[in-house]
Amino acid sequence: MLGNFSYCNPTKLYFGDESLSYLKDELKKYGNKVLLVYGGGSIKKIGLYDEVINILKQANKEIFFDSGVMPNPTLEKLYEGIKIAKDNNIDFILAVGGGSVIDYSKALSASIHCKEDPWKRYYEKMLEPDCKIVPMGCVLTMVGTGSEMNGGAVITNTDKKLKIGHVFNEEVFPKFAILNPKYTYSLPHYQMVAGIFDIFSHIMEQYFSDFDDNTSDYIMEGLMNSLINSSLIANKDPLNYEARSNIMWIATWALNTLVAKGKTTDWQVHMIGQQVGAFTNATHGMTLSAVSIPYYRYILKDGLFKFKRFAINVFKVDPKNKSDEEIANEGLNCLLDYMKTLNLVLSIKDLGVKEDMIDDIANSCFCNQGGYKTLNHDDIKKILLESYNQE
Ligand code: NZQ
Ligand code: ZN
Repeated sequence: MLGNFSYCNPTKLYFGDESLSYLKDELKKYGNKVLLVYGGGSIKKIGLYDEVINILKQANKEIFFDSGVMPNPTLEKLYEGIKIAKDNNIDFILAVGGGSVIDYSKALSASIHCKEDPWKRYYEKMLEPDCKIVPMGCVLTMVGTGSEMNGGAVITNTDKKLKIGHVFNEEVFPKFAILNPKYTYSLPHYQMVAGIFDIFSHIMEQYFSDFDDNTSDYIMEGLMNSLINSSLIANKDPLNYEARSNIMWIATWALNTLVAKGKTTDWQVHMIGQQVGAFTNATHGMTLSAVSIPYYRYILKDGLFKFKRFAINVFKVDPKNKSDEEIANEGLNCLLDYMKTLNLVLSIKDLGVKEDMIDDIANSCFCNQGGYKTLNHDDIKKILLESYNQE
């Protein structure tokens, strides 16, 4: 391992089917005016809303509401939330939902007292906050993003057709995260597998980068092995607690900054997937699944040794009497078979992309430099076309 780094993750986790019982004690640490942030109503259907309201009342909190946070939260919605929080002088934000609700709440916590336009400061100039941060904590209901234990906050600017993530510093991480795998039981299959692929993609984005012998790569192989095992169980038996709890835990560790330490990372699949999302509002994990295989085939020769290692250590490809390229390709074939078993989206056409959008999507993508090949917009166009033409 060659990099220099510091490591700190301030989020306190409560995990398991009794984890909500810790919310009351956590709330005692913060001010009286709590903004409850949630999405389109799934938390009401599963009874979690009522439970949280009861706990807030028992803790004598004054409750304010910011609901209707949509998947792929928009800048417009963020401005709305800033107004609610400012008008009511909010002390604490409690996010109850998936990555969208949690991301949005982080963006909100850093924007309420921001002196300039938050889009400009955080998403164009990529600056850190220089204002008071309103603390936030979360109860997670959808697994995938890792937002519960990181500083990521992805916001979509619909006018500019840009979906951009800001990774905030530790001050903006959730103060606590409550992770009860049972809350994820009600997810539709489409969302469950989209989340599973989001996790897989987070790991691959950090794995397919760098040439050194790095402990993080071994940790990631373990996470991928466990994810394949548990996701295949959950795919057949969604109410399997053990599988759902493993998936929840893997998601957190895949993107809580640990495995990125001491190495470079790629994130090119996310750059392309996010722009597919900006043009279509498609489900995040599916934007990644639709472009991953074309992307990894495109860069396979540039990172051949790692794709070979991935094939052998993650998908148990037998290397005997095969060339490195054959082994590496077999690994990607196994990944594709696994994705088909989960019924993931494999073509951007199925996400609403039209052929005449491809140039604009490609040209609006960031081209990262941490992967095995630095792409230009023409490369991205080829990858998008490959996905588009996928049967
Ligand atoms: O809005 P509600 O009614 O809650 O419904 C949601 C939403 O429609 C539903 N849902 C959530 N929990 C449920 C449930 N339905 C039934 N039962 C439950 N228990 O699921 C739908 C999707 O929710 P969402 O929060 O949008 O999904 P996800 O967790 O995948 O979050 C996606 C957002 O996170 C960003 C993505 O770009 C996207 O904007 N990301 C954040 C990252 C980070 N913070 O580090 C990294 C990721 O790469 C990602 O970019
Ligand atoms: Zn993701």
